[in-house]
Amino acid sequence: MIQPEILIRQFLDLYGRSEVKPRVFFAPGRVNLIGEHTDYNGGYVFPCALNFGTYLAIRETDEDSIHFASTNIKWRGKIPLSDLDEKRGSEWVNYPLGVIDQLKKKGMIPKGAELLYSGDIPNGAGLSSSASIELVTSYALNELWRGVLPVLELVKLSQKAENEFVGMNCGIMDQFAVGMGEKNKALFLNCETLDYEKVPLFFKNYQLVIINTNKRRGLTDSKYNERRAQCEKAVEYLSAEKPIRNLSELGLDEFKKREYLIPDETIKKRAKHVIAENDRVLRAIPVLKDGNLIEFGRLMNESHDSLRYDYEVTGFELDTLVDESRKIKGVIGSRMTGAGFGGCTVSLVEKGKVDDFCETVGANYEKITGLKPDFYLPQVGDGTKEII
Ligand code: GLA
Repeated sequence: MIQPEILIRQFLDLYGRSEVKPRVFFAPGRVNLIGEHTDYNGGYVFPCALNFGTYLAIRETDEDSIHFASTNIKWRGKIPLSDLDEKRGSEWVNYPLGVIDQLKKKGMIPKGAELLYSGDIPNGAGLSSSASIELVTSYALNELWRGVLPVLELVKLSQKAENEFVGMNCGIMDQFAVGMGEKNKALFLNCETLDYEKVPLFFKNYQLVIINTNKRRGLTDSKYNERRAQCEKAVEYLSAEKPIRNLSELGLDEFKKREYLIPDETIKKRAKHVIAENDRVLRAIPVLKDGNLIEFGRLMNESHDSLRYDYEVTGFELDTLVDESRKIKGVIGSRMTGAGFGGCTVSLVEKGKVDDFCETVGANYEKITGLKPDFYLPQVGDGTKEII
C-alpha cells in the first residue's frame, strides 16, 4: 500500500517546497467479474474498483511547463505548455498527455504544474493501470484548472485519450469502473446507454483472488483491435436482412435464427461469444443479488470457457491457471479478466482454502509454465477521489 504522506515527502524532495501545498488524488485499478469483450459491442459488463491503484501528488506553478515524474518508472520530464500535443515515444507520459489533449478540446487551458505519480497496480496485467493513470490525471487537472466536468465526462474523455492519443481502441469499461467505482459494490453497466446500477458485493464465505500470469505482454493491442474488427464484420453480415448497429442488439434466440448469415466460422464464433456473454451477465446479476454464489461462480466458469473456445483470447498461461484453480476444492468460479492474452485470472475461493489454493496453484502453474505467478487478495474499493 502506498502511503500518501510518503508520496508528499517524495514530491517535496523532488520539486522543493513552496507556499502552495501539493494535493493528492487516487484512482483505483479494476477487476471485471463477468462480461468480457462486450463493452465495445454495446453490451453489459460487471467490473469493480480495487483498493490499489495510482496516486498522484500535484501542485500548480507559475511556470509555462508541466513536470511529470513517477516513483515507478524511470522516464521523467518537463514539457513546455506549447509542446503538450506531441507523443513521447511509447512512454507512460502519453496517458497524461492524451488526457490533457482531451481537456483542451473541452475548452480548458493548461497551466504550469508539478506532478508525481506512484502506483501499485502491476503494469500490463489487465487490471487497468492505464485507465487508472488517465482518471487520476483528468480528475486532478479538472480540480486544479477549476474545470466543472462531472466524473462521467472525465470517464468518457479518458477513454478518448486512450483511443485517440495512445492508439489503443479500448471500450469504456475500464475508465468507467475506475472513475465511478464504490467500496464493496460492483457496477452493472450497459455500455450502449451508460445506464448503470451499483450492486452490493457479498461474497460471504468466499474470497476474491486475483492471480497474475506474469506472462510478458505481447501482441495484446493488435489482437484486441483484430477482435473488434471481427465483431464489426459480424454486424455487417448479420445486418443483411435487418440492420443492427451492434452485436448486443441481438439476444441468443435471435442470433440463432440469423447466424446462417455469417459465412465465416471464426467470425460466427466471435459473435456467439459476445451475445452469450451478455446473456450470462444478465443471469449473473440476479443470482448474485439472491446470494447464490455457486451459480455466479458457474457463470464465471462458462464465461472463461467461451473466451477460450469461441473468442480465443485466453492462451496457454491463462488456461493453465484456470484449469489448476478449478482443481482445488473450495473454488467455485475461475476466469480470465480484462483483455486476455496474458494478464490475470479472478477466482472465488472458499475463505478457509485460500492458503492451500495459493500454494498449490502457484506450484503447479510454475511447474507447467516455468513462470512464477503473483497472488492478490483485493478488497473492492472506491472510484477516483481526492485524498489529501
Ligand atoms: C480491455 C479494454 C476494455 C474491455 C476489456 C475486455 O480491458 O480496455 O475496454 O474491452 O479489455 O472486456
